[in-house]
Amino acid sequence: MDKFLITGGVKLEGEVRISGAKNAALPLLAAMILADSPITLNNVPNLKDVNTLVKLIAGLGITMDYEGETVKADTSTLSNQFAPYELVKTMRASILVLGPLLARYGNAQVSLPGGCAIGSRPVDQHLKALEALGAHIEVENGYVHATVDGRLKGADITFDMVTVGGTENILMAAVLAEGTTTIRNAAREPEITDLAQMLIEMGAKIEGLDTDTLVVTGVESLHGCEYSVVADRIETGSYLAAAAITGGRVKTTHTDPSLLESVLDKFEEMGAEVTRGEDWIELDMMGKRPKAVSFRTLPHPEFPTDMQAQLMAVNVIGRGFATISETIFENRFMHVPELSRMGANIQVEGNDAIVTGVEKLQAAPVMATDLRASFSLVLAALVAEGDTLIDRIYHIDRGYENIEAKLQSLGAKIKRVS
Ligand code: UD1
Repeated sequence: MDKFLITGGVKLEGEVRISGAKNAALPLLAAMILADSPITLNNVPNLKDVNTLVKLIAGLGITMDYEGETVKADTSTLSNQFAPYELVKTMRASILVLGPLLARYGNAQVSLPGGCAIGSRPVDQHLKALEALGAHIEVENGYVHATVDGRLKGADITFDMVTVGGTENILMAAVLAEGTTTIRNAAREPEITDLAQMLIEMGAKIEGLDTDTLVVTGVESLHGCEYSVVADRIETGSYLAAAAITGGRVKTTHTDPSLLESVLDKFEEMGAEVTRGEDWIELDMMGKRPKAVSFRTLPHPEFPTDMQAQLMAVNVIGRGFATISETIFENRFMHVPELSRMGANIQVEGNDAIVTGVEKLQAAPVMATDLRASFSLVLAALVAEGDTLIDRIYHIDRGYENIEAKLQSLGAKIKRVS
């Protein structure tokens, strides 16, 4: 099993090109199922999760041509509507094929994603909303069997909580439903706007982009188009965090500052100089030790849960103390015991973590537990005294393209070892 060996103590300096967003690429790939003519997606990051979904969609009989940063799909060869447990269990986002399959073919069998390290993460909201659109849903032997006679019917849907995947699944179902669907309490993450924009290019009628109410007027069919995945705001924030924790200066390019204002505000509060360009962001920590900053994770446009672990890592060596409240997932502090092994001072009380900054961290063998948590361990290792060995980095490969090459280009001493 691959591991990272990181020697701490280097101030990161330089420029890093940000990839397309994993969390946008996945729903966009699922949306390709809706196109009745060939469709092309560009700026697709080369990641394990992307490969899993491409494989799952190819398993439906759809012709998938994946080369470099481009995926081309031709749905005319579709032969089944079945998403097997073997693929779905490795990635929860596989459930995103449910809405498009049902809307276009009136039938889908998709395995339930099952548990996940960062919480129970049910899909009840997805299923309830599809039923409201007229789907008949049965859950049997771990599979969701969804059918509809004729087309789905537009409906007024209010989610009980803000759900990113739920909003995406229902949006992809509603675009082909008969009549108007209103999705209330919709998630407003930039990846949802990206999905809505591609659907519009395909011929869908959607209003309310970037708001919590999406109004969809169903159309009979959608055509192919050529579309490019939005920049990864979480990858952007992660590399800026690497500059902040090491006291360095990093410029992220091919990104968009408007996607992560809440995170940039926190970096400024830490004492960093943040410069925003049209498609780049530079963070200069000027060799200083950051100030610890408190924050609470909430749906977009507030502070994203996917940046919580990385900002916690920066706080760990910060001046003073900070409280971090995690309100999206019930079990998303698994990086805390690992950071503590490196000398961090963190107290967890329910959904709050109180971090008291320490001046130095020491290298230790640690284990990645989930995708974003693994980046927090990389951050800690970049400043720890000595060589840190991070185990189970397959988690990191799910979401960070070319991570060691990108970090090396900024001066980091990082090696993949097996
Ligand atoms: C997406 C992101 C993930 C991010 C999360 C929150 C992708 C591929 N993943 O995950 O990186 O951390 O948004 O920003 O885009 N919930 C229910 N029932 C449901 C659906 C959700 O109870 O039917 C709960 C979840 O357990 C969780 C909360 O709602 O506590 C938010 O989940 P959701 O927004 O759906 O997250 P994902 O779409 O899975």
